[in-house]
This record gives sequence, C-alpha cells and structure tokens, in this order.
Amino acid sequence: MKTISETILKLVNLSKSYGKLKAVDNINLEVQKGELIGLVGPNGAGKTTTIKMIANILKPDKGEILIKNQKGNLQNLVKNSRHLIPQGFLIDIPSFYKMTAYDLLKYFAKLTDYPRNKIDDRIDELLKLFNLYQWKYTRVDKFSKGMNQKLGIIQAIIHDPEIIILDEPQMGLDPNARLELRRFLKLLQARGKTIFLASHLLHEISEICNKIALINLGKIIKFDTIENLGVNLRTNEVIVNILNEIKEADLPEIQNKMIQKLNPYLVKSLDPNISKQSINYYPLTKEFRIYFDGKNESKAEILKILLQEFQSDFKVTSFSQPRTAQLERIYEELIQKEPTRSQIEEGRVI
Ligand SMILES: Nc1ncnc2c1ncn2[C@@H]1O[C@H](COP(=O)(O)OP(=O)(O)OP(=O)(O)O)[C@@H](O)[C@H]1O
Ligand SMILES: [Mg+2]
Repeated sequence: MKTISETILKLVNLSKSYGKLKAVDNINLEVQKGELIGLVGPNGAGKTTTIKMIANILKPDKGEILIKNQKGNLQNLVKNSRHLIPQGFLIDIPSFYKMTAYDLLKYFAKLTDYPRNKIDDRIDELLKLFNLYQWKYTRVDKFSKGMNQKLGIIQAIIHDPEIIILDEPQMGLDPNARLELRRFLKLLQARGKTIFLASHLLHEISEICNKIALINLGKIIKFDTIENLGVNLRTNEVIVNILNEIKEADLPEIQNKMIQKLNPYLVKSLDPNISKQSINYYPLTKEFRIYFDGKNESKAEILKILLQEFQSDFKVTSFSQPRTAQLERIYEELIQKEPTRSQIEEGRVI
C-alpha cells in the first residue's frame, strides 16, 4: 500500500534572537505524520529555544510555525492556537510542586480534553509503565531527578497527544530507564504518533529516529535520514598525533609536502561536506587527519612515509584509524568543524 506523506508540523524561516544572539536562525523543517525526528546539536545550539516556540511559550521574531488542526489543515500557531491536533511537551527539567504524583498528573490531564472517566486508568497505566506506580501517592518534591524526569514524560503524554515533543527526555534516566523509554517511543510511533526529540546523546537518537536534524549556532545544517547522512560520510581517515605543535608559518609548506608525498594513497574524490581538503591539521590536539583510500596497504605506506620523510618536520606519537560510531562521526564532521556557540562565547574562536 502506498503511504501518502502528510505534513503535521512545519517550521518556516523561524528565527529568535536574545539581544544580538541569534538563538534560532532561519530554521525550515517539515515533519510528516508518524515520523520520529531527532533534533541534535551541541549545548547552546538552539534546540530548547526552537521547542519553546513550537510549544507557544516563546514568540518567534520571524517566521511561522504551522501545525495541523482538527480539520486537517496547517494552521499558523502564533495567529491561532485553537483547535490544533493535541500536542504534548516536555521542556527542560521539570520542577514540580508539593503535590502527589497522582494529583499532579490528574491536574495536567484535566487541562486537556482527555475523557474524564478514563484519566485514572491512564495515570495508572503510565505510572506502571515507567515503574513509578508505587510512588503514586508520594509528594513529587521527594522524587529523585530521574523519577521527576519520568513524571515529566508521563505528563507530556498523559492525554495521548498526536504530536509529542520532548527536550532531552533521557536526562537523569538510568540505562535501563533509557532503554525502556526508547522502546516506548518506538511503540508510540508504531501507533502513528509523531515524535520530535531534542538531544545531544547521539547513540540514543540513532537507535530510534528515522531522521535527524543537525543544529548548530541556531541553524539546521543537515536534515536527512540516518542512512543518507551516512552515505555522505563513507570515507576513511587516519589520525596522526605529533609531539610538538607546528608553527602556523610552517604549516602550508608541510601540508603541501604531505599532499605531494602521500598523494597516491589519499582519497580520490572527497565529499566537500566532509572536508575541503584531504589533509587537515588541528593545532589544539596536535594532530593531522588524513583522508585516505581505505586500503590497509595504503595505511602502511602513509605511516612509513610520515616516519621516514618528515623527521625534520614533526615526530609521530600515534597513528590510528578512529572507530567512531557513524553518527558521532557525522556530528564531528558537520558540527564540531564549525565552532559551537560555547566555543565562541569562551573566546576560543574569533
Ligand atoms: N532567556 C534567554 N536569554 C538570553 N539568552 C538565552 C535565553 N535562552 C537561551 N539563550 C541563549 O540562546 C542560545 C540557545 O539556547 P538553547 O537553550 O536553545 O540551546 P540548546 O540547544 O537547548 O542547548 P542545551 O543542549 O544546552 O540544552 C544559547 O546561546 C543560550 O545562551
Ligand atoms: Mg536545551
């Protein structure tokens, strides 16, 4: 059967600044019904700001947030937030009050249109699912961080929303609870729910999400399926650590010499999304990263040449091929190559 894609959430040129800082910078994104999307980026990238705008807590400076309404049309959230399909949010660290878990969840459930006579059963079902049932009548200010986080997730989905938007839902959860959460999100997706998940935990995201939106400095730098992101990055790289830092003035000459000597073993067509050149030097970590053709013999030749012909230029302390997981690699190549916001703020990058 052919499935017709159906846009359920659309961000158009969405922007938000805090003073001079562009926290969210012209984001465009389209989410289809039933997708599980990961918004991935480093601290300060703009994930929470984006989610707060979708949750209508923050007003965008520019752009539109379109969400499907109950008639099936996309509706501008800022202009009219009524009659949209039900949404559930977990934003930042939930801080709850001196209520019991039961009272709190009942309060949230009553705020929504969830059928009154089904609320109690729904609360029990979810408390059991998240292993909190025995704490049903405990005041939530006595809850541990992870228990509070679980309660935050339950609160987000108590009314069985169509769109579920979670900001760092794994925060504070132990490995078992994280696994359970992943399974649960998959189950919700199988039931046709649309899920949008912000995180910097790449493993968690890669395990469950269909698509990933990579965000840095308020901009979406890639939005694609994990498979497609991976295709771009099928390459081979060796890391060569050296003993002493190379002076900036000496670098171009050394780099040219390396390109010349290592040329037969370097990758022939390097994806410019990965890197513009096949040999890069990183002064902070005192390392060269070399994109080669992937053959073991080539690796052996590269090492031999570096040791024999570059003795006067640098001393090799280690030579290795990184075994990073695919998504970490993507993250490293696409995000960390650009300075993150915290690096700029700390004055590490001008
Ligand atoms: N209320 C605010 N006032 C001023 N600046 C803010 C405010 N909220 C966020 N920012 C800034 O906007 C940028 C984006 O922040 P945001 O919280 O959206 O990032 P994030 O991707 O969620 O990061 P994290 O992974 O740390 O949660 C950051 O540089 C942050 O300092
Ligand atoms: Mg955040």
